[in-house]
Amino acid sequence: MGIGIGILGGGTVGGALVRRLVDNRDVIAAKTGLQLEVLRVGVRTLDKERGFDLLPGVLTDNVADVVADDSVEMLVEVMGGMDPAGDLVLAALRAGKPVVTANKELIAARGPELFQTAEEAGVSLLFEAAVGGGIPIIRPLWETLAGETLTKVMGIVNGTTNFILTAMSESGMAYKVALAEAQRLGYAETDPSSDVTGVDAAAKAAILAGLAFGSWVGADAVYREGITGLDPVDLQFAAELGYVVKLLAVAERTEEGVNARVYPAMVLTHHPLASVRGARNAISIEGPAVQRLLFSGPGAGGEPTASAVLGDIITAARELRAGTLVAPRIRLADGGVADFGDVSTMWYLRLMVVDQPGVLAQIAAVFGHHGVSIRSVRQECSGDEATLLIVTHSAPERAQQAARDGLRGLGVVSNVAAAIRVESTES
Ligand code: NAP
Ligand code: HSE
Repeated sequence: MGIGIGILGGGTVGGALVRRLVDNRDVIAAKTGLQLEVLRVGVRTLDKERGFDLLPGVLTDNVADVVADDSVEMLVEVMGGMDPAGDLVLAALRAGKPVVTANKELIAARGPELFQTAEEAGVSLLFEAAVGGGIPIIRPLWETLAGETLTKVMGIVNGTTNFILTAMSESGMAYKVALAEAQRLGYAETDPSSDVTGVDAAAKAAILAGLAFGSWVGADAVYREGITGLDPVDLQFAAELGYVVKLLAVAERTEEGVNARVYPAMVLTHHPLASVRGARNAISIEGPAVQRLLFSGPGAGGEPTASAVLGDIITAARELRAGTLVAPRIRLADGGVADFGDVSTMWYLRLMVVDQPGVLAQIAAVFGHHGVSIRSVRQECSGDEATLLIVTHSAPERAQQAARDGLRGLGVVSNVAAAIRVESTES
């Protein structure tokens, strides 16, 4: 007998998933012994070209019906957003139906409540596709590495911004053109501002931090900067200095608590993350025994994401057929959140300064006053003005910030034109 599946969403991910479930039905059955039946697909607009054909009555614009339908044994949520997705997922769990979702925004915001509801209902809530697109990362982190005391997770977790940064730095493509192309290719969120402002990456960082360290920090506690403030000229200067700019998500366990952050940062060209191009993602996981593991692959797009969703569907279907849970429960403690001001990084600064004797000495004095050591300085002169490219050594956020404030107060500095963190960890 088949397993009845209800899907919320028939867009980039939902469409790819439906095609795969229908076209590969026999292959999946031969491999797993499971007959997966797409019984309902909920969308917003019925009269839209979707690239898949379903029997009459399967496609509906009544999403509550998909959850309530008795023949639907499992819910797949690939519609995105908080509402109505959150309440529909809760309703399915409370009705004893396992849920598979790709919705990182929802998991990051309401994870503990959803995990608790799934536990009480005795069903699985699976979300492999929520981080890293087609890369298996949730299961390895939560299951395979359960015995490891992890210390740091760092990576590129947003395909859209990595696609944009790659296109801008390698082909000189304009930001807007690159973003439009990422949207066309199905990498971007329905509202792409969540990609470029770092909201999407922050949700993923919160999930990774929670699973890596077993305590939930939540998306609101993730320090966040996006890529919208980057000037293409700094991508060029980065290349000249031997760096590539990437939007990084970093989560660390410190004595003060867990720290999670998302920001653009320069990485050395020979760093493993530097070669992650286009919409690919890569996530490194560090722990005392495993040292450093690197997971990489396609991080966005309908097909790779549908592959991760399908893997979860098969797990949930096996559980339904076996009448027992296979996937481990997600149990989390409340965790302390470390102060971002204590986080130490190197910085790249581009300063516009007056080209006259003594300027460098004044600038160096400001850095010295705030305990920030200078690692390198490059100067480009044009007329009476000079551009200074300064890379500092590592120092806490609050000291680096105070140094920049001090520089802005110097009469010889006309502009702190750019300030970008530099990730100093080398392979
Ligand atoms: P999408 O292309 O915008 O598709 C969303 C689908 O949900 C559409 O079919 C839409 O219906 C339907 N929908 C949205 N709100 C609805 C509502 N209120 N009522 C009924 N139907 C509604 O989005 P997507 O790219 O497939 O992303 C879906 C989810 O997967 C999101 O949570 C996203 O974060 C996640 N995800 C996406 C990717 C990716 O690369 N795209 C990767 C990983 C995870 P219509 O078609 O009628 O508008
Ligand atoms: N918009 C997301 C990205 C999709 O670009 O990474 C994958 O989660």
